[in-house]
Amino acid sequence: MTVHFIGAGPGAADLLTLRGRDLIAASPVCLYAGSLVPEAILSHCPKGARIVNTAPLSLDEIIAEIAAAHAEGKDVARLHSGDLSVWSAMGEQLRRLRALNIPYDVTPGVPAFAAGAAALGAELTLPGIAQSVVLTRTSGRATAMPPGETLENFARTGAVLAIHLSVHVLGKVVSELSPHYGDGCPVAVIWRASWPDQRIVRATLGTLRTAVGDEMERTALIFVGHSIGAEEFDESRLYAGDYDRRYRPVGTDPRFPET
Ligand SMILES: C[S@@+](CC[C@H](N)C(=O)[O-])C[C@H]1O[C@@H](n2cnc3c(N)ncnc32)[C@H](O)[C@@H]1O
Repeated sequence: MTVHFIGAGPGAADLLTLRGRDLIAASPVCLYAGSLVPEAILSHCPKGARIVNTAPLSLDEIIAEIAAAHAEGKDVARLHSGDLSVWSAMGEQLRRLRALNIPYDVTPGVPAFAAGAAALGAELTLPGIAQSVVLTRTSGRATAMPPGETLENFARTGAVLAIHLSVHVLGKVVSELSPHYGDGCPVAVIWRASWPDQRIVRATLGTLRTAVGDEMERTALIFVGHSIGAEEFDESRLYAGDYDRRYRPVGTDPRFPET
Protein backbone atom coordinates (compact mmCIF):
# COMPACT_ATOMS: atom_id res chain seq x y z
CA MET A 1 0.00 0.00 0.00
CA THR A 2 1.29 3.47 -0.91
CA VAL A 3 -0.05 7.00 -0.58
CA HIS A 4 0.58 8.72 -3.90
CA PHE A 5 0.86 12.50 -3.49
CA ILE A 6 0.03 13.92 -6.91
CA GLY A 7 0.29 17.48 -8.18
CA ALA A 8 -3.07 17.99 -9.89
CA GLY A 9 -1.99 21.08 -11.83
CA PRO A 10 -3.33 24.64 -11.95
CA GLY A 11 -6.90 23.94 -13.04
CA ALA A 12 -7.27 22.64 -16.59
CA ALA A 13 -8.06 18.95 -16.24
CA ASP A 14 -5.58 17.99 -18.98
CA LEU A 15 -2.65 19.70 -17.25
CA LEU A 16 -2.01 16.54 -15.26
CA THR A 17 0.98 14.25 -15.84
CA LEU A 18 0.37 10.82 -17.36
CA ARG A 19 1.94 9.30 -14.25
CA GLY A 20 -0.49 11.22 -12.05
CA ARG A 21 -3.45 10.11 -14.16
CA ASP A 22 -2.37 6.45 -14.04
CA LEU A 23 -1.82 6.50 -10.28
CA ILE A 24 -5.28 8.02 -9.74
CA ALA A 25 -6.77 5.31 -11.97
CA ALA A 26 -5.01 2.58 -9.97
CA SER A 27 -5.93 3.87 -6.47
CA PRO A 28 -9.17 2.72 -4.82
CA VAL A 29 -9.11 5.76 -2.50
CA CYS A 30 -8.78 9.40 -3.63
CA LEU A 31 -8.39 12.32 -1.25
CA TYR A 32 -8.49 15.70 -2.99
CA ALA A 33 -8.13 19.29 -1.86
CA GLY A 34 -11.48 20.41 -3.22
CA SER A 35 -10.90 24.14 -2.97
CA LEU A 36 -8.64 24.17 -6.07
CA VAL A 37 -8.45 20.68 -7.60
CA PRO A 38 -10.83 20.51 -10.59
CA GLU A 39 -13.56 17.88 -10.22
CA ALA A 40 -12.95 16.71 -13.82
CA ILE A 41 -9.70 15.11 -12.68
CA LEU A 42 -11.74 12.80 -10.45
CA SER A 43 -13.11 11.13 -13.59
CA HIS A 44 -9.83 9.18 -13.66
CA CYS A 45 -10.72 7.44 -10.36
CA PRO A 46 -11.67 3.78 -10.76
CA LYS A 47 -15.34 2.79 -10.51
CA GLY A 48 -16.42 2.45 -6.89
CA ALA A 49 -13.44 4.43 -5.53
CA ARG A 50 -13.85 6.16 -2.19
CA ILE A 51 -13.51 9.85 -3.10
CA VAL A 52 -13.15 12.36 -0.27
CA ASN A 53 -12.94 16.15 -0.49
CA THR A 54 -10.49 17.10 2.25
CA ALA A 55 -11.28 20.85 2.17
CA PRO A 56 -13.52 20.61 5.28
CA LEU A 57 -11.28 18.09 7.13
CA SER A 58 -8.61 18.70 9.77
CA LEU A 59 -5.13 17.19 9.44
CA ASP A 60 -6.07 14.54 12.04
CA GLU A 61 -9.15 13.59 9.99
CA ILE A 62 -7.11 13.39 6.76
CA ILE A 63 -4.53 11.15 8.41
CA ALA A 64 -7.35 8.99 9.82
CA GLU A 65 -8.66 8.48 6.24
CA ILE A 66 -5.17 7.47 5.10
CA ALA A 67 -4.63 5.17 8.11
CA ALA A 68 -7.96 3.44 7.39
CA ALA A 69 -6.94 2.84 3.76
CA HIS A 70 -3.56 1.59 4.97
CA ALA A 71 -5.25 -0.89 7.33
CA GLU A 72 -7.21 -2.25 4.34
CA GLY A 73 -4.12 -2.36 2.10
CA LYS A 74 -5.64 0.17 -0.33
CA ASP A 75 -3.52 2.65 -2.27
CA VAL A 76 -4.46 6.31 -1.87
CA ALA A 77 -4.22 9.04 -4.50
CA ARG A 78 -3.73 12.31 -2.60
CA LEU A 79 -4.36 15.31 -4.87
CA HIS A 80 -3.23 18.87 -4.28
CA SER A 81 -3.40 21.78 -6.72
CA GLY A 82 -0.43 22.80 -8.84
CA ASP A 83 2.82 21.23 -7.71
CA LEU A 84 3.41 19.81 -4.26
CA SER A 85 6.68 21.59 -3.55
CA VAL A 86 5.04 24.92 -2.75
CA TRP A 87 2.12 25.75 -0.44
CA SER A 88 0.57 22.31 -0.56
CA ALA A 89 0.63 21.37 3.16
CA MET A 90 2.21 18.11 2.00
CA GLY A 91 5.17 18.43 4.40
CA GLU A 92 3.08 17.97 7.54
CA GLN A 93 1.25 14.98 6.03
CA LEU A 94 4.52 13.31 5.03
CA ARG A 95 5.87 13.78 8.56
CA ARG A 96 2.79 12.05 10.03
CA LEU A 97 3.10 9.21 7.50
CA ARG A 98 6.78 8.70 8.36
CA ALA A 99 5.83 8.47 12.05
CA LEU A 100 3.15 5.88 11.20
CA ASN A 101 5.43 3.94 8.83
CA ILE A 102 2.99 4.42 5.96
CA PRO A 103 4.76 4.41 2.56
CA TYR A 104 4.31 7.30 0.14
CA ASP A 105 5.65 8.72 -3.10
CA VAL A 106 5.36 12.11 -4.80
CA THR A 107 4.45 12.94 -8.41
CA PRO A 108 5.02 16.56 -9.47
CA GLY A 109 2.41 18.77 -11.10
CA VAL A 110 2.28 21.95 -13.20
CA PRO A 111 2.59 24.86 -10.75
CA ALA A 112 0.41 27.96 -10.96
CA PHE A 113 3.36 30.22 -11.79
CA ALA A 114 4.13 28.14 -14.90
CA ALA A 115 0.48 28.17 -15.97
CA GLY A 116 0.39 31.94 -15.38
CA ALA A 117 3.48 32.53 -17.51
CA ALA A 118 2.00 30.30 -20.23
CA ALA A 119 -1.22 32.33 -20.14
CA LEU A 120 0.87 35.45 -20.74
CA GLY A 121 2.82 33.67 -23.49
CA ALA A 122 5.92 34.83 -21.67
CA GLU A 123 9.41 33.70 -20.78
CA LEU A 124 10.11 35.22 -17.38
CA THR A 125 13.91 34.93 -17.56
CA LEU A 126 14.94 37.15 -20.46
CA PRO A 127 18.69 37.64 -21.10
CA GLY A 128 19.98 40.94 -19.79
CA ILE A 129 16.77 41.70 -17.86
CA ALA A 130 16.04 38.96 -15.35
CA GLN A 131 17.53 35.53 -14.71
CA SER A 132 15.75 34.66 -11.47
CA VAL A 133 12.14 34.13 -10.49
CA VAL A 134 11.13 34.36 -6.85
CA LEU A 135 8.06 32.34 -5.89
CA THR A 136 6.70 34.13 -2.86
CA ARG A 137 3.63 35.31 -1.00
CA THR A 138 2.64 37.77 1.71
CA SER A 139 1.57 36.91 5.24
CA GLY A 140 -1.83 35.33 5.55
CA ARG A 141 -4.18 34.61 8.44
CA ALA A 142 -2.80 31.08 8.74
CA THR A 143 0.83 31.70 7.77
CA ALA A 144 3.19 34.47 8.84
CA MET A 145 6.24 35.22 6.68
CA PRO A 146 9.68 34.57 8.16
CA PRO A 147 11.27 37.96 9.00
CA GLY A 148 13.79 38.07 6.14
CA GLU A 149 11.33 37.08 3.42
CA THR A 150 9.83 40.49 2.72
CA LEU A 151 8.80 41.77 -0.70
CA GLU A 152 11.28 44.60 -0.19
CA ASN A 153 14.16 42.21 0.35
CA PHE A 154 13.30 40.22 -2.75
CA ALA A 155 12.77 43.45 -4.70
CA ARG A 156 16.36 44.53 -3.97
CA THR A 157 17.54 41.71 -6.25
CA GLY A 158 15.52 42.97 -9.23
CA ALA A 159 14.33 39.40 -9.88
CA VAL A 160 10.89 38.68 -11.33
CA LEU A 161 8.46 38.10 -8.48
CA ALA A 162 5.61 35.58 -8.77
CA ILE A 163 3.49 36.63 -5.82
CA HIS A 164 0.90 34.11 -4.64
CA LEU A 165 -1.98 34.40 -2.20
CA SER A 166 -1.82 38.20 -2.25
CA VAL A 167 -4.35 39.68 -4.68
CA HIS A 168 -6.34 40.99 -1.68
CA VAL A 169 -3.37 43.14 -0.54
CA LEU A 170 -2.46 44.88 -3.80
CA GLY A 171 -1.86 48.18 -1.96
CA LYS A 172 0.86 46.57 0.15
CA VAL A 173 2.42 44.92 -2.92
CA VAL A 174 2.55 48.25 -4.76
CA SER A 175 3.87 50.32 -1.85
CA GLU A 176 6.63 47.85 -0.98
CA LEU A 177 7.78 47.24 -4.55
CA SER A 178 7.47 50.68 -6.20
CA PRO A 179 10.56 52.18 -4.49
CA HIS A 180 12.68 49.38 -5.96
CA TYR A 181 11.16 48.61 -9.37
CA GLY A 182 9.67 52.07 -10.11
CA ASP A 183 6.04 52.95 -10.88
CA GLY A 184 6.52 52.06 -14.55
CA CYS A 185 7.50 48.46 -13.84
CA PRO A 186 5.25 46.01 -15.70
CA VAL A 187 2.85 43.84 -13.72
CA ALA A 188 0.47 41.09 -14.79
CA VAL A 189 -2.28 39.57 -12.69
CA ILE A 190 -3.69 36.23 -13.81
CA TRP A 191 -6.85 34.84 -12.22
CA ARG A 192 -7.49 31.13 -12.50
CA ALA A 193 -4.77 30.47 -15.06
CA SER A 194 -5.78 27.60 -17.38
CA TRP A 195 -9.40 27.48 -16.12
CA PRO A 196 -12.12 28.30 -18.69
CA ASP A 197 -12.77 31.64 -16.92
CA GLN A 198 -9.09 32.67 -16.82
CA ARG A 199 -8.60 36.46 -16.72
CA ILE A 200 -5.50 38.57 -17.27
CA VAL A 201 -4.86 42.20 -16.36
CA ARG A 202 -1.66 43.86 -17.52
CA ALA A 203 -0.64 47.09 -15.86
CA THR A 204 2.31 48.82 -14.20
CA LEU A 205 2.99 49.15 -10.49
CA GLY A 206 1.64 52.69 -10.78
CA THR A 207 -1.64 51.70 -12.46
CA LEU A 208 -2.21 48.30 -10.88
CA ARG A 209 -4.81 49.23 -8.28
CA THR A 210 -6.96 51.11 -10.78
CA ALA A 211 -6.57 48.40 -13.42
CA VAL A 212 -7.65 45.64 -11.05
CA GLY A 213 -10.38 47.63 -9.27
CA ASP A 214 -12.34 45.74 -6.64
CA GLU A 215 -11.55 42.28 -7.99
CA MET A 216 -10.77 40.31 -4.84
CA GLU A 217 -11.18 36.73 -6.02
CA ARG A 218 -8.44 34.70 -4.37
CA THR A 219 -7.04 32.43 -7.03
CA ALA A 220 -4.72 34.86 -8.69
CA LEU A 221 -1.04 35.29 -9.25
CA ILE A 222 0.80 38.61 -9.51
CA PHE A 223 3.92 38.83 -11.67
CA VAL A 224 6.12 41.88 -11.14
CA GLY A 225 9.33 42.50 -13.05
CA HIS A 226 10.93 44.19 -16.01
CA SER A 227 10.83 41.08 -18.17
CA ILE A 228 7.00 41.01 -18.16
CA GLY A 229 5.96 42.00 -21.69
CA ALA A 230 9.49 43.20 -22.58
CA GLU A 231 10.53 43.33 -26.25
CA GLU A 232 13.97 44.93 -25.76
CA PHE A 233 16.20 42.12 -24.55
CA ASP A 234 19.32 40.30 -25.68
CA GLU A 235 19.10 37.10 -27.68
CA SER A 236 20.35 34.03 -25.87
CA ARG A 237 24.03 33.23 -26.66
CA LEU A 238 23.11 29.54 -26.69
CA TYR A 239 21.62 29.77 -30.19
CA ALA A 240 23.97 32.42 -31.59
CA GLY A 241 25.53 31.23 -34.85
CA ASP A 242 29.08 31.81 -33.56
CA TYR A 243 28.61 30.19 -30.15
CA ASP A 244 30.72 27.05 -29.91
CA ARG A 245 28.85 24.36 -28.00
CA ARG A 246 28.90 20.61 -27.58
CA TYR A 247 25.84 20.03 -29.75
CA ARG A 248 26.88 22.52 -32.46
CA PRO A 249 30.68 22.75 -32.73
CA VAL A 250 31.79 25.88 -34.59
CA GLY A 251 34.96 26.75 -36.56
CA THR A 252 38.11 24.83 -37.40
CA ASP A 253 39.13 24.30 -33.75
CA PRO A 254 35.92 23.77 -31.76
CA ARG A 255 36.07 23.39 -27.96
CA PHE A 256 33.83 20.33 -28.27
CA PRO A 257 34.98 18.45 -31.40
CA GLU A 258 32.60 15.83 -32.76
CA THR A 259 33.91 12.36 -32.02
C1 LIG B 1 -2.25 27.30 -1.72
S1 LIG B 1 -1.43 28.00 -3.10
C2 LIG B 1 -1.18 26.56 -4.09
C3 LIG B 1 0.02 26.68 -4.98
C4 LIG B 1 0.24 25.42 -5.81
N1 LIG B 1 0.72 24.32 -4.99
C5 LIG B 1 1.20 25.63 -6.98
O1 LIG B 1 2.01 24.75 -7.26
O2 LIG B 1 1.10 26.67 -7.65
C6 LIG B 1 -2.77 28.80 -3.87
C7 LIG B 1 -2.32 30.07 -4.58
O3 LIG B 1 -1.64 29.72 -5.77
C8 LIG B 1 -2.02 30.59 -6.80
N2 LIG B 1 -2.78 29.81 -7.80
C9 LIG B 1 -3.12 28.50 -7.74
N3 LIG B 1 -3.75 28.12 -8.88
C10 LIG B 1 -3.79 29.22 -9.66
C11 LIG B 1 -4.29 29.48 -10.97
N4 LIG B 1 -4.86 28.53 -11.69
N5 LIG B 1 -4.16 30.73 -11.46
C12 LIG B 1 -3.58 31.72 -10.75
N6 LIG B 1 -3.08 31.53 -9.52
C13 LIG B 1 -3.17 30.30 -8.98
C14 LIG B 1 -2.87 31.69 -6.17
O4 LIG B 1 -2.01 32.73 -5.76
C15 LIG B 1 -3.47 30.96 -5.00
O5 LIG B 1 -3.85 31.88 -3.99
